[in-house]
Amino acid sequence: MVHGNIQGIRQSALAELDALYTLRVEEDVFVLPDMLAVLARVSCAVNREISIYIARDGQVLDVTVGDLESVPLADMRQRRNEARLSLVRCVHTHPGGSALLSDVDINALKTLRLDAMAAVSVSDGRPNQAQVAFLGERVAGVPQAMLWPVVGAADIPQAAWMREILASDARVLAGEGAPDETAPCRQAILVGTDSEESLQELASLADTAGIAVIGRTLQRRTKPDNATYVGSGKARELALDCQGLGADTVIFDTELTGAQTRNLEDLLGGGVEVVDRTVLILAIFAQRAQSSEGRLQVELAQLSYQLPRLAGQGVGMSRLGAGAGLRSRGPGETKLELDRRRIRRRIADLNAQLAELEKQRGVRRARRQRNAVPVVALVGYTNAGKSTLLNRVSGADVLAEDKLFATLDPVTRSVRLPQGRACLLVDTVGFIDKLPHALVKAFRSTLEEAMLADLLVVVSDAASPHCEAQHQVVQHVLCELGAGDKPRIEALNKTDLAPDAQAALGWQGAIPISAESGTGVDALLCAVADRLQNLRRPVALHIPYAQGALLAQLHREGLVQSEAHEAEGTRVVALVDETDLGRLLRRGAALVPEDPA
Ligand code: GTP
Repeated sequence: MVHGNIQGIRQSALAELDALYTLRVEEDVFVLPDMLAVLARVSCAVNREISIYIARDGQVLDVTVGDLESVPLADMRQRRNEARLSLVRCVHTHPGGSALLSDVDINALKTLRLDAMAAVSVSDGRPNQAQVAFLGERVAGVPQAMLWPVVGAADIPQAAWMREILASDARVLAGEGAPDETAPCRQAILVGTDSEESLQELASLADTAGIAVIGRTLQRRTKPDNATYVGSGKARELALDCQGLGADTVIFDTELTGAQTRNLEDLLGGGVEVVDRTVLILAIFAQRAQSSEGRLQVELAQLSYQLPRLAGQGVGMSRLGAGAGLRSRGPGETKLELDRRRIRRRIADLNAQLAELEKQRGVRRARRQRNAVPVVALVGYTNAGKSTLLNRVSGADVLAEDKLFATLDPVTRSVRLPQGRACLLVDTVGFIDKLPHALVKAFRSTLEEAMLADLLVVVSDAASPHCEAQHQVVQHVLCELGAGDKPRIEALNKTDLAPDAQAALGWQGAIPISAESGTGVDALLCAVADRLQNLRRPVALHIPYAQGALLAQLHREGLVQSEAHEAEGTRVVALVDETDLGRLLRRGAALVPEDPA
């Protein structure tokens, strides 16, 4: 929703400004030229300054018409923290004026601890020149503004300005007052709705999202209240707790409806934000998605989750996303419809982009089949140690940390198995109880890659008191993905921390390992090699016409998936195990070489 002095602005111009919210700025881009073009055009037409606030992760948080002292600054103040930057930059227009930053601009940069403040002059409805300032060294504890020379708006050194933000970060942090970088800025009370274990996991999720848990309460209800989930008495109690403890966020360990969220926020008052488990998980995914595909999938999941909940609230993408605490309030019904339409358009757009990426992946996958390299996927509950295992066996440098969902994008590495064969090992996103449905759907295409693997290695955390329950969740999600009965090997990890776990769990078939120390990992790889030896998987082969009997035999056994007749012979994709493959190769069949395309 566009804020500020929008009176008298034509609907079409407002719609143009509104559409800015759907744009996403890449990591090394300061501001998109398209954004500047829209800002300049509308700014010139209405002869007012227009500001756009962009979060460090590229989301547009706010668009405001009017002077710099208006609405969003009030919101931005809530984000402000003496010790560090707000992770938000402001770009605004100077219609008819010069690009030089004013004292008001510099003041806003300092008091709001903005990542950067940029002004763009406008002439003839086009962006003309730009000036930017960042926060520099502190003088008497106050970071000073560092102004850069004016540049042509078309020549903004995008990457350099983004690098300067990082440098500014370091300068502000290095300042006085010994700022504690690890101090999370959000203070939350957790409301359990299910079990103590689930509440504990919610606390880990909050920690992963960088939120401090300052209180928790468990409220099991057989029948949740339609309006506020918990009863009104409990809601009043929560309001008092928030006041007493100074909490700015309440996180529910369940999914809330849009109405419940809004009612609770009204009841709690004081600007307390109400968040549910799904929003929290989605926020973590949004923070952690690395690849462009991962980011698209998370955005799709967030929008799909929010669309039905959108009522009397802005686009709401800010909710615990990068723009924590920043949200638009109360658009009228027409505005609401506009928001909905915009989100639907964006969803369609994201789906199209994802379909395109999936097509490309399909090509890669097909190449792998032609190459006849078996694929093994590591799956398991979040934090079970999949990335650590992948690193151990492949020497890959995959992020492994004691946080949930360290890995979002599937990482594939080639691994040499004991009997000399190679396989591709795929690390996948960790599963979790009550995995948001929107997320499973959005990540389906990525997970499918893993699900198309020939073999699964299910990694469990032996040191977790909930190992058994987590294993059940993994099984449940695998079934949901249609991979419940895929060939698998069970690996019981972290046995260095829980040496008796295997006996205690009674998991006789599982292979005890410690990905951290390497114990048992060779045995696991041997088991993988053995299993692959006897596994049938699709392999692309060329069978010369002279060896037609081989093809006939494959057909008799029902192993041919596809075939094409070429000049020298038949190209087939057949389901074969290692023994069959060896026999076929000895009798004149050949692996189809990898297609360089
Ligand atoms: P997600 O990305 O959330 O799915 O996690 P993951 O399954 O990839 O787990 P990751 O490899 O990131 O490991 C999680 C934590 O467990 C890290 O702190 C690891 O150092 C630790 N860890 C992994 N394997 C072992 C192990 O065998 N022993 C011990 N003691 N710690 C381990």
